Amino acid sequence: MIGFRDVSAGYRRTRVLERLSFHIEKGEFVFLTGPSGSGKSTLLKLIYHELKPLSGEVIVADFSSNRLPRRKVPYLRRKLGVVFQDFALLENRTAGENIAYALEVTGASRTFIRRRVSRVLEQLGLADKEKCFPNELSGGEQQRVAIARALVGEPFILIADEPTGNLDPAISLDILRLMIEINTLGTAVLLATHNYGLLKGREDFRRLHLSSGRLVFDGPNGNFAPSAPPAEI
Ligand SMILES: Nc1ncnc2c1ncn2[C@@H]1O[C@H](COP(=O)(O)OP(=O)(O)OP(=O)(O)O)[C@@H](O)[C@H]1O
Ligand SMILES: [Mg+2]
Repeated sequence: MIGFRDVSAGYRRTRVLERLSFHIEKGEFVFLTGPSGSGKSTLLKLIYHELKPLSGEVIVADFSSNRLPRRKVPYLRRKLGVVFQDFALLENRTAGENIAYALEVTGASRTFIRRRVSRVLEQLGLADKEKCFPNELSGGEQQRVAIARALVGEPFILIADEPTGNLDPAISLDILRLMIEINTLGTAVLLATHNYGLLKGREDFRRLHLSSGRLVFDGPNGNFAPSAPPAEI
């Protein structure tokens, strides 16, 4: 599903990720943790191909970072649902229109779009918010609209970059519970966060932990004990 093979990555002047290798299988729920600046968002960018690795290979479904022309990137992104901390909704469109937009760009028929949009609105408890504009919704509701938009194309994985960063603790837990529910329906979830409160009591969940761009833990959250990054040679 998703595979990182000895991946290093970074930006023009900074090398951020060092030789990461891991796999995420169908239907898994994975927390991605690590201090600010450790490379969580950079890792996610590699998955949705906003960034190419400097070396190694990133595999997403049937796509490989080594053999993916730019023009094919939109096809890959349609298989992913991505949500961000700042919700990234279009302010001049209603909740329903924001969600529909994700399908309009794929050329789906109007009937299909209408059916799918009401389905996800229902699923996320937003049926009565369809006609609201983002500024008429609470932060938690806006994030649920963003999640609905991410799910409307039936992605195999939902990727969330600090989705609760702008929300209070109670609403953050609601959003996490929602993602767990989505996962039990079959969609894999990769949730990047430095809100460690969300991991409390979730001992069985898989956790990947980054430290200074290295993967220093991959295992059940209950066993969390990051190894020290190898010394620089
Ligand atoms: N577009 C960019 N250009 C140059 N450097 C960048 C860029 N984006 C991130 N970086 C650098 O890469 C490093 C890792 O950043 P990244 O955003 O992946 O961390 P993060 O773990 O997501 O942090 P946070 O928890 O604060 O979101 C940081 O040192 C950052 O300054
Ligand atoms: Mg980040």
